[in-house]
Amino acid sequence: MDKLIVEGGHPLHGTVRISGAKNAALPLMAATLLAPGCHTLHNVPDLRDTRTMLSLLEQLGVRWEREGNTLRLHTESLTGAEAPYELVKTMRASVLVLGPLLSRNGFARVSLPGGCAIGARPIDFHLSGFEKLGVRTHLERGYVEATVEGALRGGIIHFDVPSVTGTENVLMASVLAEGKTVLKNAAREPEIGNLIDMLSAMGAQIEGKGTGRLVVHGARRLCAAEASIIPDRIEGGTYMLAVAAAGGDVQISGCEPCHLSALMEKLSLCGVDMETGAGSVRVACPAGDGKGLFRPRSVDITTSPYPGFPTDLQAQFMALMARGDGTSIIHETIFENRFMHVAELKRMGADIAIEGSRAVVRGVARERLCGAPVMATDLRASASLVIAGLSACGRTEISRIYHLERGYENMAAKLRALGAVIEQVRE
Ligand code: UD1
Repeated sequence: MDKLIVEGGHPLHGTVRISGAKNAALPLMAATLLAPGCHTLHNVPDLRDTRTMLSLLEQLGVRWEREGNTLRLHTESLTGAEAPYELVKTMRASVLVLGPLLSRNGFARVSLPGGCAIGARPIDFHLSGFEKLGVRTHLERGYVEATVEGALRGGIIHFDVPSVTGTENVLMASVLAEGKTVLKNAAREPEIGNLIDMLSAMGAQIEGKGTGRLVVHGARRLCAAEASIIPDRIEGGTYMLAVAAAGGDVQISGCEPCHLSALMEKLSLCGVDMETGAGSVRVACPAGDGKGLFRPRSVDITTSPYPGFPTDLQAQFMALMARGDGTSIIHETIFENRFMHVAELKRMGADIAIEGSRAVVRGVARERLCGAPVMATDLRASASLVIAGLSACGRTEISRIYHLERGYENMAAKLRALGAVIEQVRE
């Protein structure tokens, strides 16, 4: 296993390019199962999670080749209909093959994800959505077995909470259903817009992109398509927070600033200067305290579905607030157990108290935030420890960084190119 060693106190300068979005690449890769043929996906990040999805697709009979960030997937003949526990337990998003397999084969068997580091995360919304389309589901030895009764038929599906992968899964099951399907209180994340664009290129008819009400008119057949993955707004936001924490002046290119407005509003209240261009944001930190190091003003956040503040940036924002000037209340409303990073940040000297779904972060001066050996517990928690390490005094050693490799392409190399002192070593 590898670990990261970060030496804090080096401001970041230069340009960093953002990769394609993990959370868009996964559903678009799954969507290729819907229609036989050769699909082309551009700007696909090379990550542990995208490789896991490729292994799963391979088990289902898909052949693929990669040329840089372009993937070609051949889905002419499928030979399987099962997502096994070994893959689902390492990546929950494996459940995204359920919707397309039901459309294409009328049957699928997918392991239930079970709990994960950030909460219980059930898939009941996915299953009740499928049932409204004429699917019978039952649980057998930890697996969901789903079978289409007769043919998929359009229906009305209301999500109690706007679930991202739930919306994507049900959408993929509905595009070939007979008649009209309406998804109410659907999630509105940009990654769903990316999926809708790809499904439309395949011949699907979907209205309401970007809204909470999606209307699908079932198509008779779909064809293979070519699509491009949108920039990763969470990776972009993570680098913006890294600059705010370490100080400096960085051009973040290849991103979509309008997907990051909730974060940018908060960063501006923190005192960070930002300038948006076409596909880029320049982030600059004034050297606030006379010693050349910026100290952000403390600001409160509440996570909520898009376009609200993303839960996937909560841990990284908390790392910035650990050195804030004042007290920040961080309210996590999406996942019930997403404060695993708190104990690790406290080991570095952060002053954080958890009160139910809120964390009260009292900012400490830089001298009190000190490097320490810490352990990454999940993907975004790992990124928050990197950010804390960049702004702390001394050396931080982050172990279990395989979590980071699930969702960040070459993070250490990208940060090093900006002047960070960071290296990846064998434990
Ligand atoms: C997706 C993202 C993840 C992000 C999350 C919230 C992908 C691959 N992952 O995860 O990075 O953190 O959105 O923005 O895109 N829920 C249920 N029953 C369900 C489904 C969800 O109760 O069947 C609950 C969840 O526990 C959670 C809330 O709904 O409290 C939203 O979760 P959801 O949007 O489904 O998250 P994911 O799609 O798993």
